[in-house]
Amino acid sequence: MEFVLANGMRSSNGQNGVGLHDLISRAIDAEPARGEARTRRFCRLALECGVDAFITSIAGIRIPRIIYGTAWKTTDTERLVELAIQTGFRGIDTACQPKHYNEAGVGAGVTACLNAGLARGDLYLQTKFTHLSGQDPQRIPYNPRASLPEQVAQSFAASLRNLQTDYLDCLVLHSPLPIREQTLQVWHAFESLVDSGGVRQLGISNCHSRAEIEHLCHESRIKPAVVQNRFHAESGYDREIRAFCSERQIVYQSFWTLTANPRVLAHATITALASIHRRTGPQILFRYLTQIGVVPLTGTRSGTHMRDDVSIFDFELTGAERRAVDKIFAEEAAMTR
Ligand SMILES: NC(=O)c1ccc[n+]([C@@H]2O[C@H](COP(=O)([O-])OP(=O)(O)OC[C@H]3O[C@@H](n4cnc5c(N)ncnc54)[C@H](OP(=O)(O)O)[C@@H]3O)[C@@H](O)[C@H]2O)c1
Repeated sequence: MEFVLANGMRSSNGQNGVGLHDLISRAIDAEPARGEARTRRFCRLALECGVDAFITSIAGIRIPRIIYGTAWKTTDTERLVELAIQTGFRGIDTACQPKHYNEAGVGAGVTACLNAGLARGDLYLQTKFTHLSGQDPQRIPYNPRASLPEQVAQSFAASLRNLQTDYLDCLVLHSPLPIREQTLQVWHAFESLVDSGGVRQLGISNCHSRAEIEHLCHESRIKPAVVQNRFHAESGYDREIRAFCSERQIVYQSFWTLTANPRVLAHATITALASIHRRTGPQILFRYLTQIGVVPLTGTRSGTHMRDDVSIFDFELTGAERRAVDKIFAEEAAMTR
């Protein structure tokens, strides 16, 4: 897997016999001493936080295996996004939906990090187009009377402005529209944004029917590369959808991962694993998910939890340990059937 260091050097994840950490160390040492201290800091952070923790989507885009979510942070957004990136997060999720997200605050936090030496190519920036039904009527970021394709174009332009970027790594449809034809109309507008180079890949969220995702895959020219869903027992943890995603190399992202699963976190198996690995329950859960191919979102406001979340790649659950956690999720899903 190839990655680009903050200073533009390329590496292939140690597959050529040179260790990833060696490559990063060499990049740090190779930095010319012309005021590049900030770049060195970001390289060093990448080294400490496991820059190799990425998964590649069907579109060939490298997605960090854990993503920082920015919902409900209002005026703290800029500070928390900056802190998250400084702590080692390289994926940021937001939405052009002022009701729940301060997208301009995300842009300000990202820009502060870019000014401090982070390379834009090292950051995975993902936002969403939200249909009228999900918007606050007082703060709609596009003309509600415009056609759906025009609403997408206006929302996209607002996202670029807010995020102070000229491209998005992923544009996610916040949820399917009430009628399939409408969903497709929006999706085709998304496709034209990929064609014009403004968006690298597409995703869909809150899509809990395998048939709906299959239909979208069937009818689209540019297939979804990401599915972002609530990870809870009531949907059987999207077992079928996740199977479909892995067949199609679609990256499944989870939200509500901790909030929806207090019983899982309190389970004796998780507590025992936390003690064996000297980690917290949330770290065990996040690590388990990354090992089964799920990309969890975390919207923590705590610096300690941010460090916990980015350091999950320092340890690994064994096959037997993973199977023990599988069993907890299977039991939870069975209980809500
Ligand atoms: N597509 C959608 O419709 C949708 C919907 C909801 C959310 N999202 C996305 O998903 C992101 C995450 O949202 P979420 O609903 O999953 O909840 P969340 O904002 O991550 O909150 C989960 C809770 O877990 C705690 N937490 C996080 N990391 C922890 C750790 N390592 N140890 C202990 N506690 C920890 C947080 O508390 P502390 O702050 O104290 O750590 C918080 O109370 C959002 O910001 C948003 O980007 C998308």
